[in-house]
Amino acid sequence: MTHDFDTPVSREGTASLKYEGRETYFGTKDITPVWVADMDFAAPVAVTRALVGRAEHTIYGYTEYPESMFISMQDWFKTRHNWEIDRESIVMCPGVVPSIYAAITALTEVGDKVIIQPPVYHPFFTAVTDTQRTLVENPLRLEGNHYQMDLEHLAECAEAGAKFLVLCSPHNPVGRVWRQSELEGLLEVARRYGLTIISDEIHADLIFPGQKHLAITTLADDVSIITTVSPSKTFNIPGLGLSAMVISDKAQRKAIKQVFSQWHVSNMNPFSICGFEAAYQHGEAWLKDLMLYLKITKETVKFYLKESLPDITVVESEGTYLLWLDCRKMAMKDVELHHFFIEQAKVAMSPGTLFGIAGSGFMRLNIAAPRSLIMMVLKSIRSAYIS
Ligand SMILES: Cc1ncc(COP(=O)(O)O)c(C=O)c1O
Repeated sequence: MTHDFDTPVSREGTASLKYEGRETYFGTKDITPVWVADMDFAAPVAVTRALVGRAEHTIYGYTEYPESMFISMQDWFKTRHNWEIDRESIVMCPGVVPSIYAAITALTEVGDKVIIQPPVYHPFFTAVTDTQRTLVENPLRLEGNHYQMDLEHLAECAEAGAKFLVLCSPHNPVGRVWRQSELEGLLEVARRYGLTIISDEIHADLIFPGQKHLAITTLADDVSIITTVSPSKTFNIPGLGLSAMVISDKAQRKAIKQVFSQWHVSNMNPFSICGFEAAYQHGEAWLKDLMLYLKITKETVKFYLKESLPDITVVESEGTYLLWLDCRKMAMKDVELHHFFIEQAKVAMSPGTLFGIAGSGFMRLNIAAPRSLIMMVLKSIRSAYIS
């Protein structure tokens, strides 16, 4: 491994949400932050060089999306995901969450039923409720230590009139990388009931060895699918804020562009564009090392908990750097659990209930930090729990 993920990089003085936001979100700064989904690792050097190079130019005027940026993205998805993306189907956006809001706004009406699959990334809930659509939950099923989709229930939701599904693939927080058979089952329901799918694939490149992410749109050309992607999670540049939607249907593209235009969302800043392009163009070797590092960390966490704190188990995780911890054996109510981690263990994790009621009894641990910090977190939890 040529990249160093062990040496801590101080985030002091960068107004980072993860560190500076502890006071606001957890009421104290005296707590180790393993919550919001960004990494405590330096981004690939090529990204930093590109940003510094652009900064040195000294004029930061209005900026167009250069063709080279689109090519870097198309090459990345073709090489890594066997997905040929038409240039004309790409619509740029300041983030994946705004893309979901825009797609729901453009393609559904107020009151329409929109399905999500909890426990799931919390803005999926608000993307439906903030736009005055009707939230329909198709909860995932925990079987053993592994989450599955409930396709029968999904079909019932569609039968009851839902026409739109927000898919999380890979899934945050449960860490599933959906298999081809599962996605095909989902597509079959979508086909039968005329469901439109918006597939959030922001975690598509954070896949553990042995698993393979499949872009759902590559599996069907007779189902209405919009995909959102971004290098932001993969290369630790979420603060730069730029993502892409892939919308092959011309009418849908027009409707979504119209929403962006009404919101006056126009071109992004030159740094986002530089970071996006450099990451997709030069980030591959860094990513390979990152996933090896995360895999070892994940195994270390599993081993430690199994041996030293068996009341917490790690739900089987196939991708993302977010581990879904099953804390139900600790036999605490959610409020107590939250209180225990903050007040006693002094660890800032995301509470499971943030991801819906199905997250009750769970916590989400972000392991994208030097392993020494993650070990410190586990030891603090253990000593608080046994004392
Ligand atoms: C599934 C998922 N979608 C979207 C986002 C955020 O995307 P953005 O910052 O581009 O809006 C996250 C961040 O954690 C995420 O996990």
